[in-house]
Amino acid sequence: MAAGAPQVSSGCGHRSLRIVGGRPASEKNWPWQVSLQIHDEHVCGGSLIGNRWVLTAAHCIYGHLDYTVKIGDINVKHTSTTAVKVPVQDIVIHQDYSPFGTIKNDIALALLEFPVKYSSHIQPVCFPQKAFEVQAGTECWVTGWGKLHEKDSKDDVPELLQEAELSIIRYQECNEILKKKLESISNVVKKGTVCGYSALGKDSCQGDSGGPLVCEYNETWVQVGIVSWGIGCGHRHLPGVYTEVSVYKDWITDRMSLASSQDSAAFLLLPLCLVLPLGILATP
Ligand code: ARG
Repeated sequence: MAAGAPQVSSGCGHRSLRIVGGRPASEKNWPWQVSLQIHDEHVCGGSLIGNRWVLTAAHCIYGHLDYTVKIGDINVKHTSTTAVKVPVQDIVIHQDYSPFGTIKNDIALALLEFPVKYSSHIQPVCFPQKAFEVQAGTECWVTGWGKLHEKDSKDDVPELLQEAELSIIRYQECNEILKKKLESISNVVKKGTVCGYSALGKDSCQGDSGGPLVCEYNETWVQVGIVSWGIGCGHRHLPGVYTEVSVYKDWITDRMSLASSQDSAAFLLLPLCLVLPLGILATP
């Protein structure tokens, strides 16, 4: 399926406020945006795709650190009453993720310790079907708390969520552009990614990684990409590279159902563990 709107399930991709104000992003516009944090410091973006699930980039995950996810707030530093902070219980990185050479399979899922309650500030985004290919030229949006300029230091980041409109470029064309720039003989942008470009020099940047690239179809917002990498930020003629979510649709749903079944297995095992020793004690 190349053209048209993707098929999505219901109950996702809606926001209560439909007017896009100026930048920074206005409240309630991107209710699926989350900040992935370590010790209360923003490290990456992510998106809420279920009440216990956050989609992010694999390169955002550094070992077994204590992650929390902040949801429902456009201010990354101060926590408003609409926001919740949830510890991450488990992280699943794509089994074929590789950061070497060109980054591959840059996708990960975070399972929250408890489900979040949806509100006008907290909503899941939809993800597309496996066969969906976002068309070149589609206007989509990327959001995040990443650097505003390439030269800014890593600590000099905005407090308020930023938004930028980008036009989609398919990976084949994107590969031609970035390959030339990098003077590479091998392909640098491969299947499993999609690119976003703005003639105005808008782009994602460090700190935006893991965050969503979303497009609107029939008043429903669908996540087509995950911020992955780029050559610097905001250079005209240089698109940013995003993991193409539709390609990983099966991986996402498989991992989600595997984790839920393990969760319910643990739920069944716990009473068994408690009852069995009692049974042994009781046997003559
Ligand atoms: N890798 C960066 C991060 O960790 C994202 C870079 C995106 N760059 C770009 N020019 N679009 O936050």
